Amino acid sequence: MKKKDQDQNIRRREFLKTSAKISAGTLFMGAGAPRLLGATGPSLPGVKIESITLNNGIKMPILGFGTLYLNGEEGKNCVADAISLGYRLLDTATVYQNEEAVGAGIAKSGIQREKLFVTSKVWVDDYGYEKTKTAFQTSLDKLGLDYLDLYLIHRPRGDVKGAWKAMEDLYNEGRIRAIGLSNFEASHLEELMSYAKTDPVVNQIETHAFFRQEEANKMNKKYGIQHEAWSPLAQGRNDHFTNETLAAIGKKYNKTNAQVSLRWHYQRGIVAIPRSSQKAHMQENLEIFDFELNDDDMKTIAALDLDITQFPEWE
Ligand SMILES: NC(=O)c1ccc[n+]([C@@H]2O[C@H](COP(=O)([O-])OP(=O)(O)OC[C@H]3O[C@@H](n4cnc5c(N)ncnc54)[C@H](OP(=O)(O)O)[C@@H]3O)[C@@H](O)[C@H]2O)c1
Repeated sequence: MKKKDQDQNIRRREFLKTSAKISAGTLFMGAGAPRLLGATGPSLPGVKIESITLNNGIKMPILGFGTLYLNGEEGKNCVADAISLGYRLLDTATVYQNEEAVGAGIAKSGIQREKLFVTSKVWVDDYGYEKTKTAFQTSLDKLGLDYLDLYLIHRPRGDVKGAWKAMEDLYNEGRIRAIGLSNFEASHLEELMSYAKTDPVVNQIETHAFFRQEEANKMNKKYGIQHEAWSPLAQGRNDHFTNETLAAIGKKYNKTNAQVSLRWHYQRGIVAIPRSSQKAHMQENLEIFDFELNDDDMKTIAALDLDITQFPEWE
């Protein structure tokens, strides 16, 4: 096993251990529903990342950068690299234990704060009105920011109602530009909608070629909620990066499997947040706006769906 893979496995084990310690539980799959692509967002040399307009009117880049397992010095440098290449949406979470690294990467990049779209997530142990408010401030302090663009409920269990109320108040005070959900299934979403005074803008759920989440996508659409894909490259599982079906499609356009997958998310109107520790991969993942999958390609990729999570250890 390569050293990099070993390091990642160690980080994955540490992450799972921490998640389990913080609170054992289930990772739920959620719902989904994008809106039409809106105005053009931030640009970078040669590549334009479009934005979608969320249901509260704010814009969010349709392609962003995931930071799970990117911790410490490596995390800082990856975030700075990603920003230098043109990524503007950064996705972190309290439970990733890398908000400080993400903040350091932002500072290192020298970018103006308002050019970024920064997402973090409140972890289950911090649900409840007062605890969520405190957790939010801790996240801001670690990131070195004075507001978040998007704050998500990481998983639908525990005192979600208290957490949501705190997030609504923070939103109304202007401390967060948008609030949303992650891993919410239909029943969780319906319950939240029964008391929410502010509509969630996003539901971030596992979505990739092997789990396309069509039903969840429809459910999110019904509520005007933007579908955001976590693990959009399936973390490379099921041999994603050498999958022959994706490779055959990619060959027609001179694109890699990662680019085919990310283009597929884009054409579905789904926000994707691929993570990479390698600058070349970060760049490759941005180069998806100069080709188009046809209807047959889209159907062929849809047929790869196994309709089941590829992350059973997070169930
Ligand atoms: N809300 C939730 O519950 C939840 C759960 C999981 C993840 N997330 C978020 O979603 C983000 C993305 O998901 P993820 O990190 O699990 O997995 P992912 O983005 O699907 O895959 C990351 C893996 O793909 C590799 N990779 C990236 N680009 C590549 C390319 N062009 N060619 C070949 N390999 C490539 C990376 O390796 P290299 O480093 O070698 O490039 C890394 O091993 C996370 O980082 C996190 O922000 C949220």
